[in-house]
Amino acid sequence: MAKAKFSSRIGLIAATVGSAVGLGNIWRFPAETQTNGGAAFLLLYIVCVFLLGIPLMLAEFSLGRASGTDSVTAFSRLRPNSKWWLTGVLGMISSYFILCFYIVVAGWTVEYFFQSLTGDLFNGISAHASVESSNSFFTTKMEKYINSDFPPLIFTYLMILINLGVLIGGVKKGIERISMWLMPLLFLLLLTFCIISLSFPNSAEGVRFFLTPDFSKITPHALVNALGQAFFSLSLGMGTLITYGAYFPKKTKLTQTAFTVSMLDLLVAVLTGLIIFPAVSSFGLSGEDLRGSTLVFVTLPEVFAQMPAPSLWAALFFLLLMVAALTSTVSMAEVTISFVEERWKRSRRVACLIVILPLFILSTLCSLSFGSLKDWTIGGMTIFNFLDNITANYMLPIGALLISIFAGWIMPRDFMRNELRPFGAPARTIYTIIGNGVRWIVPGLILIVLISSF
Ligand code: PHE
Repeated sequence: MAKAKFSSRIGLIAATVGSAVGLGNIWRFPAETQTNGGAAFLLLYIVCVFLLGIPLMLAEFSLGRASGTDSVTAFSRLRPNSKWWLTGVLGMISSYFILCFYIVVAGWTVEYFFQSLTGDLFNGISAHASVESSNSFFTTKMEKYINSDFPPLIFTYLMILINLGVLIGGVKKGIERISMWLMPLLFLLLLTFCIISLSFPNSAEGVRFFLTPDFSKITPHALVNALGQAFFSLSLGMGTLITYGAYFPKKTKLTQTAFTVSMLDLLVAVLTGLIIFPAVSSFGLSGEDLRGSTLVFVTLPEVFAQMPAPSLWAALFFLLLMVAALTSTVSMAEVTISFVEERWKRSRRVACLIVILPLFILSTLCSLSFGSLKDWTIGGMTIFNFLDNITANYMLPIGALLISIFAGWIMPRDFMRNELRPFGAPARTIYTIIGNGVRWIVPGLILIVLISSF
């Protein structure tokens, strides 16, 4: 059976942006920015997107489209009789591991969405509560929720079922179609929140924190984090974009597509910063009140509580997060689904079930690692933290390193040029930058980061 393709240029961009834009932008990015010095981190992040993100994305697109197959077979088709397919296997495992814990956080967003709709989220807190009491109210609420066993599981399962529904629909009628609907909605919601947030009194202080760099905060540690954030946010290093690249028609201009996707992903991160930091500064929450990962589930509800119609704003915001999470989780699952369809020759429906069913068990372990299973640890980390840590710090950088070596050194020198040239015709200089990026800059920087982290 011929491999499915995305049906339009706009649909293919929506789906790829959908994969890139996710909790990584809206949940992880502000937290990383907060803990790594604000604008200095943003600057490093932008450098990483250009120097590493775009070249690597082009490498993945090229490998996917040239081979026209799943991310494991891609390597064996392009380099038969070698062990390079193991790079695809590593990527497939990474994407599945990420899916296991990411879907749990996605489940939290669903719960928060429902709690906002019913108004329960704000039950027991008044708009005039002091910053301290409101902070402790929402912190307790979040901890109580995620540390409990049942409710988070129900919402995680709900999210898994929604994913299954979309995935069974297939590449065109499932993934592409929902992305075409949800991505514009996401941008509309983001813009609305951005305007509201910037109009708060005192928002300028937050804008300054986010946009005026303090160069003394540019440290190797911040660079490592910026690099990890760039991989994660652009869905790189695990074959997701090899998988999607295989769904690109031959006439797709890869260079343009990679630029568009990366810039939209960056735009979402910047808009999120322009929502969160001004809101935080204008409501007098700063420093101590802000613990990275709770920014979205604790700090923002505090802000909403002080606005007119808190439930409405909270519901819209958590809807935004759900949407962002959903279009990312489907892309993580697609890596393995495409493999099962191709290698094990299963129908779409069966492949989806084979991939999604074990997720019920694995995500349960991740979810319970905040509750009953919090004492089940691996290397001192709960299951959730362990998966998060090994994927972000080791598996993704190693995957990205291998992919760049494969595309830049193992494949013939003109491989990428041919993939990028026919229709995109990037000017000579652009191609030179990208080519050298994939051969030298990407592997070089990743090696430095990996070595320094050991
Ligand atoms: N890029 C997604 C985000 O920012 C996460 C993701 C990682 C998606 C890996 C697909 C593959 O949330």
